[in-house]
Amino acid sequence: MATASETQPQADVPTKELGFSISQGVNWSNYIAYRPIYPTSFFERIYNYHVKKPGTGWSVAHDIGAGCGVVSSTLATRFDNVIVSDPNDGYAALARKLLVEEASLPESKFRFLQETAEKSSIESGTVDLITACECIHWTTPDIAIKEFGRELKLGGTLAITYYTRPLIEASERAVKAWLALWVAFSEISKGGLYDKAYYIGNNGLDALGFPEEEWENVKRVYINAHGTLEAYAVNDRVGGSMVKDGEERIWVEDDEDWCHMHGIDWFKAYLATWMPSTPVSALQDEWDELEVALEGKEVKTRTPLAMVFATKKA
Ligand SMILES: C[S@@+](CC[C@H](N)C(=O)[O-])C[C@H]1O[C@@H](n2cnc3c(N)ncnc32)[C@H](O)[C@@H]1O
Repeated sequence: MATASETQPQADVPTKELGFSISQGVNWSNYIAYRPIYPTSFFERIYNYHVKKPGTGWSVAHDIGAGCGVVSSTLATRFDNVIVSDPNDGYAALARKLLVEEASLPESKFRFLQETAEKSSIESGTVDLITACECIHWTTPDIAIKEFGRELKLGGTLAITYYTRPLIEASERAVKAWLALWVAFSEISKGGLYDKAYYIGNNGLDALGFPEEEWENVKRVYINAHGTLEAYAVNDRVGGSMVKDGEERIWVEDDEDWCHMHGIDWFKAYLATWMPSTPVSALQDEWDELEVALEGKEVKTRTPLAMVFATKKA
C-alpha cells in the first residue's frame, strides 16, 4: 500500500480560470452524444455504498460540477431533492432547461446554483449524498473536499468519479496510433489548468486525500484498468498518491458497461469533447495514421473509470 505523499505536485494549485468553459470549446450537444452514458451499474455502485450505512437518508443529493445535469437527472429518481450546481456561466440554466422543461421533471425537486465546488452556499450538515462526477480535476481538491465535508450530514456519502479516454482493442499499429494521438493532444493541453487536471486524473484519483479527522470508510474502485493505474495516464503528468493504509481498494475488470464498438468518426468526435477542443486538422498526421491502421473497421473500446467513496465522520 502506498503511503500518503506530502508532495502532491501541482494538483492543489488554485487556478483562476474555470475548467471546461465555453471559451475552451465546450459543446454540450456533442458531450451528450459522444461521452459515455453513465450506466445503471454506475449509480448502483454509489447507492450500494450509501445504503450500507445505518440511517442513511435519501432526502437531499448535491450534484457538483453538474454541467448539463446528466447525473442529476438519475439522482432525481432516488432522492426527494437534488441540488444541481456548476460554476461556469449558463450551465445550471442549461441543466434546468433540460431537466425541467425538456424532461418534464418537477421543478420543485431541484435547486439550480451557479457556484464552485470549493465554495458553496449550501447550509452546513444538510446533504445526504454528494456526487462530483468528471469534475474534481478542475477543482482545487483539498479545498473542495473540505467543503464537501461541511455540506454533508454526519454519516453522509461523498462519491467522486472520473473516467478517462478509452483504451482500444485493435491491431498493434492502431493501438500505437491511438496512444500517439493522446500524446500529441497532451502537447496542446498544457499549462496550469490542464496540468493540474492531469495530475489528478492520471492516477485514477489516487491524488485525492481524505483526512482521517473528517472521513472514514474510504473505498477506491478502479474499473477496467486491468490492474494498473497506468490505464488512467494520458501522459506523464501524474500526481503523488494520497492513498492511506486501511483504505479499501477494489479492482473491477472487464466491465462491459464501459465497453463499446467505435470507428474513426466517433474517435474524432470524442476527442473534440476534451478541452481545449481541438480540430482534426491540428492533429492531422496522427488522425491519418489511426484511420489507415483501423482499416475502416470498428474496434472495441474499454474506458477506465475510478470511483472514490468516503463517509463524513460522525
Ligand atoms: C466534464 S464536465 C462534467 C459534467 C457532469 N458532472 C458529468 O459527469 O458528465 C466538468 C464540469 O466541471 C465544472 N467545473 C469546472 N470547475 C469547477 C469547479 N471549480 N467546481 C465545480 N465544478 C467545476 C465545469 O463547469 C463542467 O461543467
